[in-house]
Amino acid sequence: MSGIKIVTIGGGSSYTPELVEGFIKRYYELPVRELWLVDIPAGQKKLEIVGALAKRMVEKAGVPIEIHLTLDRRKALEGADFVTTQIRVGLLDARIKDEKIPLKYGVIGQETNGPGGLFKGLRTIPVIMDICRDMEELCPDAWLINFTNPAGMVTEAVLRHTNRKKVIGLCNVPIGMKMGVASVMGVDESRVHIDFAGLNHMVFGLGVYVDGENVTSQLIDKLSGEQSGITMNNILDLGWDKDFIKALGILPCPYHRYYYQTRTMLEHELEEAQKTGTRAEVVKKVEEELFELYKDPDLSIKPPQLEKRGGAYYSEAACNLIYSIYNDKRDIQPVNVRNNGAIASIPDDSAVEVNCVITREGPIPLAVGDLPVPVRGLVQQIKSFERVAAEAAVTGDYLQALLAMTINPLVSTDAIAKKILDEMLEAHKDYLPQFFKPVS
Ligand code: G6P
Repeated sequence: MSGIKIVTIGGGSSYTPELVEGFIKRYYELPVRELWLVDIPAGQKKLEIVGALAKRMVEKAGVPIEIHLTLDRRKALEGADFVTTQIRVGLLDARIKDEKIPLKYGVIGQETNGPGGLFKGLRTIPVIMDICRDMEELCPDAWLINFTNPAGMVTEAVLRHTNRKKVIGLCNVPIGMKMGVASVMGVDESRVHIDFAGLNHMVFGLGVYVDGENVTSQLIDKLSGEQSGITMNNILDLGWDKDFIKALGILPCPYHRYYYQTRTMLEHELEEAQKTGTRAEVVKKVEEELFELYKDPDLSIKPPQLEKRGGAYYSEAACNLIYSIYNDKRDIQPVNVRNNGAIASIPDDSAVEVNCVITREGPIPLAVGDLPVPVRGLVQQIKSFERVAAEAAVTGDYLQALLAMTINPLVSTDAIAKKILDEMLEAHKDYLPQFFKPVS
C-alpha cells in the first residue's frame, strides 16, 4: 500500500491541529495515507473533539488523509512508519505541582530543565519506554519522533535504556530562535542560518548567518535593552546585559534566562503565580478556550489562538523533519540525536541538540568540536542532570533522584533539594509506580 502511516500518541493534545495543518500543507510531497490519533481513556473527550476538527481540516483541504481515532495504542502502532509522541503523564494538574512545589522553596520549577522537568521525566520516561517496547514488536522500522518534554532527558533515556536506535527528539526552540533572529535582523527567515549546538532547552547559536554572511556580532549588539526580541510565548522576554552578551559572544536560547537571570526569572514567576497563576494554570485556561473553539463544527482550520502556546510552530519542525527523512532531502535541521562525537565534551552515546543532515537513514550530526569554555560546563552539568534523572526514572532509585535534584543548577542546596524531592515524590505518587513498589 502506498502512502505513509503516522501515529500520534497523545493525539488529543490541543497542539494536534498544528500537526494536521503541517501534513495538509505538504501532502503532495509527503503523502500521509493514515494519521492515527491515540489517547488514553482520560483523554477520550479531547481526542474526539480534536479528531473531529482534524477530519474537517483534511476534508476542507481536499486531501485524502484518513484520520483514525483510538484508545488502542497497539492497534494504531501496527505497521506505522513514523510515531510521534506528545504526552503529558498526569495532565496539566501534574505540571501545576511541578511548578508550584519548588516555588514554595524559592526555586524555579521549570517543566523541562528544572525540578519540574525532573519530575516530568520521572513520570514520562517509563511510559515512553513502554511505547518503545510496543514499537519493537509492532513497527520495528518506524521512526520515533518525540516532542514530549523534557525532550532531552526522554531522548537520553531511549538511547541509553532501550534498543531503539531510530529515535529523534524534537523541539520548537531552534525554529523559534531562527524566527526571532529574522525579525531582529529585519530579514526573511529563509535567509537565516544558525549553527546550533548544545542540549534541548540548553542550545546555543554558535554562529548566526544571513545569506551566508556571519552576523553574530551585529545580532548580539541588538539583544540588549528591555527585550531581546527572541523568546518563546512561555518565557518572559528580558533583554540581555549588553556587556555580558558581548562577552559571551554566542546566541543563548530563551531557556538560558533561567540560568543566567535566575533571580529575575524567579521574582517574575512568584509575581505571576500570585497574579494569574503559574504558566500551567494559564495554559489550562488557554486550553479550555481552545477546546471550546475546536468544538465549533464550522471551524475547519487551525485557530490562530493556538499560537499563544509556547510550543507554537512545533509542527513546522516536525513536518519538515518527517518530510526530509521520507524524501532523503539531506538538508540541515537541529534535532536531538545520539552525539556520536559531534560535540567533543559530551559522551558519544548521549543525546545532544545539534544541526544534522537529515537523510532517509536518519539525522547525521554535524561535528562541532568543543563547545566554548564559558558555556561548556553548564551544558555538561545539564547533561549530567539528564543522565542521572533518566537513570532514576528507569530504576526508581531514590538516591539517583536525589542526586539529579541536587546537581540541578536551579536548586541551591542539598537540604532544599531533598525537601523538594520528598514533597514532589509524595505529590506525584500515583504516577511514579517505580518509586513506590509494594514491599514483598
Ligand atoms: C516551549 C518549549 C516547549 C514547551 C512549550 C511550553 O516552546 O520549547 O518544549 O512545551 O514551550 O509551552 P506552554 O504553552 O505549554 O507553556
